Amino acid sequence: MGDLYGRVQAAAGAIRERARLELRTEFVPRVGTILGSGLGGFAAQVADAVTIAYAEIPHFAQSTVEGHAGRLVLGTIGGVPVAVLQGRVHAYEGHAMEQVTFATRVLGLLGCRALIATNASGGIRADLAPGSLVAISDHINLTGTNAAMGPNDPRFACAPGAGGRFFDMTAAYSPALRRLALEEARRQGVALGEGVYLAVLGPSFETPAEIRAFRALGADLVGMSTVHEAIVARQMGIAVLGISLVTNRAAGLSGVGDGPGETIHHEDVLEIGRRMEGPFSGLLTALVPQIDAQIERGD
Ligand code: HPA
Repeated sequence: MGDLYGRVQAAAGAIRERARLELRTEFVPRVGTILGSGLGGFAAQVADAVTIAYAEIPHFAQSTVEGHAGRLVLGTIGGVPVAVLQGRVHAYEGHAMEQVTFATRVLGLLGCRALIATNASGGIRADLAPGSLVAISDHINLTGTNAAMGPNDPRFACAPGAGGRFFDMTAAYSPALRRLALEEARRQGVALGEGVYLAVLGPSFETPAEIRAFRALGADLVGMSTVHEAIVARQMGIAVLGISLVTNRAAGLSGVGDGPGETIHHEDVLEIGRRMEGPFSGLLTALVPQIDAQIERGD
């Protein structure tokens, strides 16, 4: 395994070099974005884009999942330098935790001070029908693992006081960034809820009994990603905004009466992503400059 910091630095260095070659100037992204299943279309909003396939970046893992293109797009949104990860790798693909959060660490070393982590999820709360957009207010990590395990390297700290062995997760999803998202959604007439995201390992979708248990635990959404990226980002001192697109009702919740409900398919996840691409991209595009300004102000 060796030196994780060295490998993350090598990846960040290769990305910097590629940007310098194509843009003929230094490129320092301020806001990073990870696009979840079916949400990759947002990358088209990036101006003056430099696109780098994950395969071209040293030590980057490849996503094997349909709907995750596997490209890093550098450029600007509303004049703000951004780094957009079009597709993520998941633990259920067999990747080590270190690989699952490798790209998040690279975004931090490149200069990102805020991370917009997006995902597709199943809706547990009754009002969260397919197509609902939800700002993640908190998470429950039931994946059985934690991305910050292993030797701690304080060189990953991106902010004063960050990078410790133990770190606070009380406000893991920045209340200030969430407020911006809710206000912007209201301005745009886009319905944006708030909810607690529960992460499982996957790749099996859940059973109805699991969903009943998760509801009792206080979960509003269920998915297979994001929590590890959020954990690593918080350890590094990067502010996190989580946006989830509900693509289906969680297992056992779509039926009438005692019926078992509809079965869940990845194709439906991708289809809802395509359908919501307009409002989703519109919201994120308007938010990037506001997030940058908020971080600049210091929270
Ligand atoms: N469960 C877990 N992950 C998901 C779901 C779901 O119902 N929908 C989209 N991603």
